[in-house]
Amino acid sequence: MNIPKTSIHGEWSSRLAFILAATGSAVGLGNIWKFPYITGEYGGGAFVIVYLLCIALIGFPVMMAEVLLGKRGRSSPINSMRHLAQEARRSQWWQVLGWSGVVAGFLILSFYSVIAGWALDYIPRLAQGTFTAVNDLNTTKEVTDFVATRFGELVGDPLRLIMWHTLFLVITIIMVAGGVQGGLERAVRWMMPALFLVLLILLGYAMSTPQFMEGVQFMFNVDFHKLFYPKGEFSGEGVLAAMGLAFFSLSLGMGSIMVYGAYLPKHASIAQTTAAVVAADTLVAILAGLIIFPIVFSNGLSPEDGGPGLVFKILPIAFGQMPYGTLFGTLFFVLLALAAWSSAISLIEPAVAWLVETGKFSRISATIGCGIAAWLVGFATVFSFNIWSDVKPLSMFSAFQDKTFFNLIDYLTSNIMLPLGGLFIAIFVAWLMKNQIVTEELEISSKNLGYRFWRFLLRYVTPLGVGLVFLNAIGVFS
Ligand code: PFF
Repeated sequence: MNIPKTSIHGEWSSRLAFILAATGSAVGLGNIWKFPYITGEYGGGAFVIVYLLCIALIGFPVMMAEVLLGKRGRSSPINSMRHLAQEARRSQWWQVLGWSGVVAGFLILSFYSVIAGWALDYIPRLAQGTFTAVNDLNTTKEVTDFVATRFGELVGDPLRLIMWHTLFLVITIIMVAGGVQGGLERAVRWMMPALFLVLLILLGYAMSTPQFMEGVQFMFNVDFHKLFYPKGEFSGEGVLAAMGLAFFSLSLGMGSIMVYGAYLPKHASIAQTTAAVVAADTLVAILAGLIIFPIVFSNGLSPEDGGPGLVFKILPIAFGQMPYGTLFGTLFFVLLALAAWSSAISLIEPAVAWLVETGKFSRISATIGCGIAAWLVGFATVFSFNIWSDVKPLSMFSAFQDKTFFNLIDYLTSNIMLPLGGLFIAIFVAWLMKNQIVTEELEISSKNLGYRFWRFLLRYVTPLGVGLVFLNAIGVFS
């Protein structure tokens, strides 16, 4: 058995570079596009609490475990798991964890790129001041209709969606083919602070609306009835969605964080770096919610109704009305696209790294191949919003009755594949790896209290949490 000492793909130049790249992976459409609309769908406060609990008790420990696996294995997730299973004298089947991550990565990227394409489409629209037209309208209904119509024009046009989807993936391919270090490290260094700044400006606008407190209440007023009875009948779906979103938002359970861990310099504290990434990710999601919901309420809308278009139907109203809205609006969508890119590259990196390690592909050809695969699968999402919007492939099962291809791919990856991946990562690190190896990688004593607590969370809380949520979601407790 020979685990490589260093990754053949290179290393981050510093611990900070890793934090930036991992934050770049974590912060993306999940925080700004997905968090608000799913929180809206499941009624707010109780969903947010469950989400935060999942982040703290499951997401954080699993992220540490995933970084650790990468740092020890020093290879693509498939090969890292192969090396580590050998080292721990466990079955070679553990490689499947790496494989399922590669599949999940393709599936996520296939829809991620289409939604990021929406953001690209909004850049020129905002720059042209399209949404300033809302100031000439008389009623809030006219305003909301105006922005909803603009959104409908976009998603109803498959060719336009394909064009943006293609552009997004071509640029992703160029970034990944160029190697992770140069382009990416440099980009995230200024991008994350800039995104944060624009979010704060938007927060200022949201606070100026009389409905700000209503938005805050919606997000923090805990009403479990809304979470468990979203459609009148008891359902564990909301809790599953909160857990799935926690995994999705932190980029966990599919090898992205593992492969980034493989490029970590030898002596870097895993606990501290992970804490920084988790904190940044959570903060951005909460900020996005605090911005969106007051604007939803001040326009007489209801958070449940937005669906995946929520952010695209709500923020343009704010940009249309606020001073310098054209400038900030353009900047916002540019930054959203950049945040999506820094996540997208982490979605294909596990597959690219593996192809390069087989020795049969150059980094460039591996990246192009992976990009084309995701591009093709992406058509299913493109059509889900127009010509196939009535196609519900699994309508024979009541739980999937109204799910389009996009809904199904999203559900399968976020709510099933990522939590399962996280569960197996937790089991491997906390039950199967030698304690001595784990503490060596963490550079910590096995008597350390924090270490013991982390191990307890991984050993019991993660498997129990993920297990219970699954059982609940398939109706065992109802
Ligand atoms: N965390 C990203 C987001 O919140 O947008 C999405 C993502 C990236 C999910 C990488 C999974 C992943 F492996």
